[in-house]
Amino acid sequence: MIRHVINVRDFSPEDLNSLFQRTTKLKSAYKNRKDWVSTQGQLLTGQILVSLFYEPSTRTRLSFESAMNLLGGRVIGTENAREFSSVVKGETLEDSIRIIGAYGDVIILRHYEVGAAARAASVSAVPIVNAGDGDGEHPTQALLDLYTIREALPRRRDLTVAFVGDLKNGRTVHSLAHLFGQTASCELATVSHINFIGPESFQIPEAVTGYLKKFGVSFEVHVSLTPEVLTTSDIIYMTRPQLERSKSEKDRERAVESLIDGKLYTLTPKLADCLKKSAIIMHPFPRNKELPEELDVLPQARYFEQAGNGLYVRMALLLDLLEK
Ligand code: NCD
Repeated sequence: MIRHVINVRDFSPEDLNSLFQRTTKLKSAYKNRKDWVSTQGQLLTGQILVSLFYEPSTRTRLSFESAMNLLGGRVIGTENAREFSSVVKGETLEDSIRIIGAYGDVIILRHYEVGAAARAASVSAVPIVNAGDGDGEHPTQALLDLYTIREALPRRRDLTVAFVGDLKNGRTVHSLAHLFGQTASCELATVSHINFIGPESFQIPEAVTGYLKKFGVSFEVHVSLTPEVLTTSDIIYMTRPQLERSKSEKDRERAVESLIDGKLYTLTPKLADCLKKSAIIMHPFPRNKELPEELDVLPQARYFEQAGNGLYVRMALLLDLLEK
């Protein structure tokens, strides 16, 4: 039976637990490197991953491709499908997927339209992994985010999270918040309270808060990033302004004005001084000015480890999908 990865709701708590256990094993085996090539390095030999990216990517595409290569599989694809695939000649996404399924064993799809991954999955003969669909979801980023949180914070229950920035368009925030909802009442529980911090017109969509209510995760909406919120947060999840999602020049100006000009959503070194010692700072990257480089030396900065974990979580995911 094919299993697609379209959103985080596709994962039960048991799926998450076993995915993370596998991730930890792969991470430690890869760090030792001893016998890797003759063991894990052959698990996906003879299989092909297709990267189909209609939007830019650094971490997601390269970590998926690296993961597939390290497991013995091969990679084909296009990093700029919007310009270099048959879309330019009028081909629909559905037709592309029907055809590409004959050339590979899994398709990693990033697309600019919400729902594109679900549409692709409905016609695909091979698993589709949603690597970001417009301002919708980015489930594999949320998986590596949750893995990073569990790894960094030994106290796993009742944590408080602050999501900061463009929460309307940030698909990584949507997926991670959903994941917090769905793990709220199980052994994996991490988060019991969320602060959503951003300008009114870039706040978290109601679809996400509705989901959190269903699972009893409490949340508050704030318009400014204050020392008070920071002192009570265990996880500070910064995000960049998603200017490319603006629908018009006016829209873009409004985004710049409310998200950038006032620097209200920047984690300045002074604000970072208010963080708990045990807190962690995360960011899905790419970062802009909201996360100054001066913070990189802080013990709370976890964003490079976070990006690094993408390799191991995606290896584990590829094995779950493809191992025969
Ligand atoms: C994110 C994305 O593409 O949604 N990047 C990533 O995959 N780590 C975040 C972003 O673009 O801001």
